[in-house]
Amino acid sequence: MINPSNDKQISSLSDEELDFFKQQGYLIKKQVLSAQTCNTLCDQLWQTAPEHLDRDDPQTWNPIPKAQWSSDPLLSLNDTKWQFRAAGTKAEQLAVMKHPQLVHWAEQMLGKGQVREPIENGKPMGSWGTAWPEGPVDPQMTEGVRGIYATLPQQTDTILEDHLHTDGHPFSLGVVCLLDDCPANSGAFKVWPGSHRRFYPLFPTQYDQARIPFYPHMPLHKGIVHPKEYLEEVAKVEEDTTPVDCCGEQGDIVFWHHRLGHMAGYNNTSMPSIRQALLFDYCHKDLDKLRLSAPHLDMWNDWSAELQQTEPAVSSATGQQQPLTDRQS
Ligand SMILES: [Fe+2]
Repeated sequence: MINPSNDKQISSLSDEELDFFKQQGYLIKKQVLSAQTCNTLCDQLWQTAPEHLDRDDPQTWNPIPKAQWSSDPLLSLNDTKWQFRAAGTKAEQLAVMKHPQLVHWAEQMLGKGQVREPIENGKPMGSWGTAWPEGPVDPQMTEGVRGIYATLPQQTDTILEDHLHTDGHPFSLGVVCLLDDCPANSGAFKVWPGSHRRFYPLFPTQYDQARIPFYPHMPLHKGIVHPKEYLEEVAKVEEDTTPVDCCGEQGDIVFWHHRLGHMAGYNNTSMPSIRQALLFDYCHKDLDKLRLSAPHLDMWNDWSAELQQTEPAVSSATGQQQPLTDRQS
C-alpha cells in the first residue's frame, strides 16, 4: 500500500490556477506524485509487458508485433498502445485517485464532499467489455481508475496529423498522471486550450454524447451521434487553435475538463522513451442526476462556488507554469 504521507504537504489551487482551468480547460501541476508512488505503478505495468519488450533495452521499445495484439479490454495491446486496466481498482492505483492532495484540488473544483469515491477491489474498466463490438471500452464503467496506459515509440517518416476528440462518456474532471518522464512529442496527452467552452453548449445533454443502440443484424450501424454544430466546431478548433503537448516529468499531473478537445499524442521522437501514465476521472457524486440536464447557460453551474466565483486574472507567474503561454502568447 502506498503511503500518501510520503508525498508533499497539502496545498490549495490559487485563484489564478482555478481561473486558468476555467479559461483553458486544463491545468498542469508539477511534481505532485512521489517517485516511489510512480515507480510502484510502473512496476505493476511492466508485469504485463508484451513479450518483445525488455524494460532495460530501449532497442526493443518498438510497436507490438501483430501476433501479440490483444483486444482483451483488461489488457489491450495494439500497435503502439499498451493499456493495462485489470488492476484499476487495486489499492496501489486507487491510492493515487484517493491521494489527499489530488482529492483536495478536485474538491476545490467540484465542491467539498462532492467527489464520488472509488471502490477498492471493485470492477475495473474493461470488466464490462466494449461500448459496442470493436468499439472503445467505456471509461465510465469502472469503480476505480481507467488504468495505466503506455504508448510505445513509433519511428515513421509519415507526417502524423493531430486530430482532437471529446470523450463520449459522462464524467466531470479528467486526470492524467505521468508515471515516468515524458519528453515533448513522446506520447503525452495533448489538449486544445479553450475548446471546452466552445464544445460544452453544442450537445443536447451536458455530459453524455448520444449513442446508437447496437443490434447484431445491423453491424455497421453503431457508434456515437455527433451534432452537426459540434462537428463544424471541431473543424474550426483544429484550424484556429494550437494544441498543447502536456509533456513533463515523472509525478506531474494534468487536470482537464470533460468537454475539452484532446488526443493521445504520438510517440515519435528520436530519443526512445515509453509514455507511461495513470488515467482516471473524478465524477461529481450526483453525476447521474446532473447528466439529465441540457447544458446550462453558465457552464460552471455544477462546479464549486469557489470555482464559479474565481475572478479572471492570470499573472505571468501562473502563466509560466503552463505551456500555453510559452507557446501561444
Ligand atoms: Fe479521449
